[in-house]
Amino acid sequence: MSDIHATSSTRPTRSFRAIGEPGTKRILIVDDEETIRLALGKFLRSRGYEVLTADCGPAALEALERQRFILMLCDVRMPGMSGVEVVTHAAKIDGDMAIMMLTAVNDAPTATEALSHGAMDYLMKPIELEDLNQAVERALHKRELTIEQRNVERMIREEVALRTEELEKEKAALRTLTISIADSLINAMEAKDIYLRGHSSRVADQAASIADALGLDADAVENVRLAGRLHDVGKIGIREDILNKPGVLTKEEFEHVKQHVQFGMEILAPLKHIPVAMTYVHDHHEHYDGTGYPRGLRGEEISIGGRILAACDAFDALTSRRAFRDAMDADETIRYLGNEVGRLLDPHVYQALKTVVERGKTLTFIDDLHG
Ligand SMILES: [Fe+2]
Ligand SMILES: [Fe+2]
Repeated sequence: MSDIHATSSTRPTRSFRAIGEPGTKRILIVDDEETIRLALGKFLRSRGYEVLTADCGPAALEALERQRFILMLCDVRMPGMSGVEVVTHAAKIDGDMAIMMLTAVNDAPTATEALSHGAMDYLMKPIELEDLNQAVERALHKRELTIEQRNVERMIREEVALRTEELEKEKAALRTLTISIADSLINAMEAKDIYLRGHSSRVADQAASIADALGLDADAVENVRLAGRLHDVGKIGIREDILNKPGVLTKEEFEHVKQHVQFGMEILAPLKHIPVAMTYVHDHHEHYDGTGYPRGLRGEEISIGGRILAACDAFDALTSRRAFRDAMDADETIRYLGNEVGRLLDPHVYQALKTVVERGKTLTFIDDLHG
């Protein structure tokens, strides 16, 4: 007959956290009849267990508070605190402990009730010692499995949490990398055109301020900022002589310039983790009235980021000096763009642009004061 030692030694070497206090094979017998306490105690000691006994519920609970047990054998019917009550409290004190009820034939329904409160099994009195031995082994084995299962679940939960955290970190690192790659591309591209220098970062900052002024959430604001930095990356594929050409472009030249949106989308295509920012880039030359490119979207069909970028792009183009004209100042530009509301610009975005530009002027003024 196998005892608990034999069971342990046949287990695989990889084991999860040991049960409670390793090596402690302590059993608590709770019964108001002394003969039963003595008989069961003697038998279980002969099987190698350390046995403590209690003659009533409160004494049992006191023992449980003091020490850990792997198993409690508990009589169902006792004067004072019933076996079911003892089980209910005991399960709270030590959820890992196996509990078996000892019951007379006419107490079977009560024993069944105890099962729903955390007892694993019940033994009918009079108890055959061989039955007791098997039941104890069964209960302890079941207890061990439950603890192992819980440990495995805990390990899985911890592993999942760890992986999630790592993934979040990787995502953040990838995002940072994306931005720095984009910056390099943008710098390389803007270096080709002195009038474009700084355009993307100015658009990014202003677009983020507008997104914020419109009440978009923090994620959306950051997507707008990123899209602002990336929006013209496709210009790297546009012929330099056309990019730098002073004056009006021919129809063919303009068609070529329009391709920068498509080129940009192709360059950014591998960055699958920033789909929202990509949509904003795609939409930055759409017009509110549907006359823009590349898709001719109108109104709210255009992503909010696309509508914001269109406004900032226009603002920055007008306030920057070009080979063929001087820069306009901010007030003039805002007035000028007022005529574009409903055509190029979304009315709400225009209002937010106005607010942001006004606020920018105030900040500059305060900066000037402080020297
Ligand atoms: Fe553009
Ligand atoms: Fe632009």
